[in-house]
Parts: sequence; C-alpha cells; structure tokens
Amino acid sequence: MPCVQTDADLSALNTFGLPARVRHLLRVRSIEEALEARAFLAARHAAAPSLILGGGSNLVLRGEPLDTVLKVEIPGRRKCGETETDILIEAGAGEVWHDFVRWTLAQGWPGLENLSLIPGMVGAAPVQNIGAYGLEVAERVASLDALDLASGEIRPFSAADCQFGYRDSFFKRQPNRWLITAVRFRLPRHWQPVIRYGELASELSGRGFSDASPPTPVHISDAVIALRRRKLPDPAELGSAGSFFKNPVIDAARCAALLAAHPALPHHPQPGGREKLAAGWLIEQCGWKGRRIGSAGCHERHALILVNHGGAVGQDILQLAASIQNDVFKRFGVELEPEPVFI
Ligand code: EPU
Repeated sequence: MPCVQTDADLSALNTFGLPARVRHLLRVRSIEEALEARAFLAARHAAAPSLILGGGSNLVLRGEPLDTVLKVEIPGRRKCGETETDILIEAGAGEVWHDFVRWTLAQGWPGLENLSLIPGMVGAAPVQNIGAYGLEVAERVASLDALDLASGEIRPFSAADCQFGYRDSFFKRQPNRWLITAVRFRLPRHWQPVIRYGELASELSGRGFSDASPPTPVHISDAVIALRRRKLPDPAELGSAGSFFKNPVIDAARCAALLAAHPALPHHPQPGGREKLAAGWLIEQCGWKGRRIGSAGCHERHALILVNHGGAVGQDILQLAASIQNDVFKRFGVELEPEPVFI
C-alpha cells in the first residue's frame, strides 16, 4: 500500500513553492502501489486523482484544497536492449531527470546531454515534451508504460502514440488519467553532437571547442548546465516553473507585419511556413523584465520566467501572468499561452 499522508501541504513539492492543502497525499513507489492507489480512489468514489505529481516543476497551484494527490516515486534505471543503431534505456517515472541524464552519460550512453539540469522527474518529461538547446525529449523517447487510472489497464505507448508536439503530448491533453510508470529512451550508438542552438554553439566555442576539437557529450552537458545556471533561477533559491509561457507560433504573414513594425523581433522558421517568436523578448519589450507585483515577479535575467519572491500564492502568479498577457496582446496582438499546468 502506498504511504498515505493526510492533510498535507504541497509547498515543498512544487518548484514555485506555492501552498495548497491536500486531504490525501499518496506516495507511489511501484506498479503494485499504483494499482493500490487506484483502488484507494475507487473506494472514495473518485474517478480520478486531483493531481498526478512528479517533481512539481511545471505546476501552478491555484491554492484550492485538493482531495487526493498521487506522487510518483517509482525508481529504476537499466539498459533494456540494443539494436544496430540504438541503445535502449529504461527509467522509472520517479527518477530525478537530471541525475538520470548524468547517469546515462557516465555509462557512455550519450543523447540526452542537451536536456541537462531540467528540473523534474523522468515520468513528467514526455508529458510536456521537455526541450532545450535544440533537442526535444520526443526525439529520444522509444516508448513508455502508463497505468490508465480509468480502466486499471497498464498500456504501452509507442513514441507515435504519445502524439508529441511543442511542450505537448497525448498525456498533457488528458490530465490526471494516465500515470506513467516507466519511460524507455532510444540513445544513438553513432552519436553526433546537437549544437545548432546559437547560444550553446557560442558557449562551446568560448570553451575552446571547434570542428577540429569537438566537444564530448559530457562537455555539452557541462556547457548546458553553465548556461542554465547563468540565466535561469535555481528553484531551491527562487521559486519558479521555468518558462511560464510557450513561445508563440504564428503564420508567416502576421510575422512579416510584426517585423515591419518591430524590425528587431526574434523569429525562427517552423515547419509549415510558420514562425516561432521569443515570448521573453515580447515580455521584455512591454517593460516587465525584473518587475514585481507584491511577491510575484518577472525574473530580472529572463523575462519568460515568473518567480515567487517569497510568500506568493497561486492567485498572485495568475494575476501577474494575466497582466503580462494583456500587455503583450495590446502591444503586439499576440496571445501568450501558459506552459505549466494549473490545478
Ligand atoms: N529574450 C529576450 N529577453 C528575455 C529573454 C529572452 O529578449 O528576457 C529573447 C532573446 O532574443 C533570446 C530569445 O528570447 O535570444 C530566446 O531566449 P532563450 O534562448 O533563453 O530561450 P527561450 O525561447 O526563452 C526556450 C525554452 C526553454 C529552454 C530554452 C533553451 C520555451 C517556452 N522555453 O526558452 O525551456 O531552456 O529555450 O533552449 O520553449 C522551459 O520550457 O521551462 C524552459 C526553460
């Protein structure tokens, strides 16, 4: 049976540090415990938990009391197969993402180095298709297992079944129904560095790497860690949920019209003739970078990160987010869509 805590506070279990009470907090450490957690819900006539929680790094708690939260803590890391082109590695959903990435590198299995230091757990990585520095986890997920809390069936999902999109997946669109238990990654045997992201390329060349002296996967991981530490707040020191908004993707004609009015607008071509804008730039242009409303603020080094300066509640963050969305829409006619899940 999972460990059950009653009347718990979730402040320490989300990287924003936002408070919310939960009547039953169940820590799920195995598939058996996941099935028992489902029976616990059924006994309480609950169709679904209030929340399936991993590292709480992509979450805004509005502050309403919750009934049942399942915190996934299923451990495990192992090589589970290989082909001519790939090595297959399986990890339990409750493994800490960054520790898992560094472990794969230490074993000599590169491929996840660009995703170093992303907060959160392995099981959450495919839910929002984490991405950074030119790589999305969708490119490395081979398959995963998920318990359908509605039917009790454990189902394997191929990468195609996961329906990955930009910070999106099948699971993000069906919240609190699928409890991911394990994820399998396909890591390339014939590894090639992914260093097309400008900021990463210049960090590496600043460290003396070049075509003649290429970086190893660990060098790339170290460079990504340094970049993230320089720009992004450490959740242990300043609460946040990483990027608060997705980078908006708009059609080429609208982008051209915006560029005519704002020639410095950063934009990146996407498949299908669309253009991705930098939400951080749009927000900074509206004067929000470094500004605060009470305890909620826009980070001074990166305008896309909203932060909890201490003592903020969910409503403070939501109010700040709404003001920023409003200003960006008024100035640029662009709607910013939040990236975290709101509960
Ligand atoms: N910018 C500004 N002002 C700012 C911040 C950014 O003008 O205050 C502009 C700059 O032009 C910069 C551009 O925005 O060149 C892009 O900024 P950055 O390279 O920091 O990346 P991002 O688009 O803001 C995305 C991801 C991050 C990921 C980085 C690096 C999203 C929503 N965010 O941020 O992911 O780490 O790229 O690849 O796609 C996350 O999802 O939580 C996250 C941190």
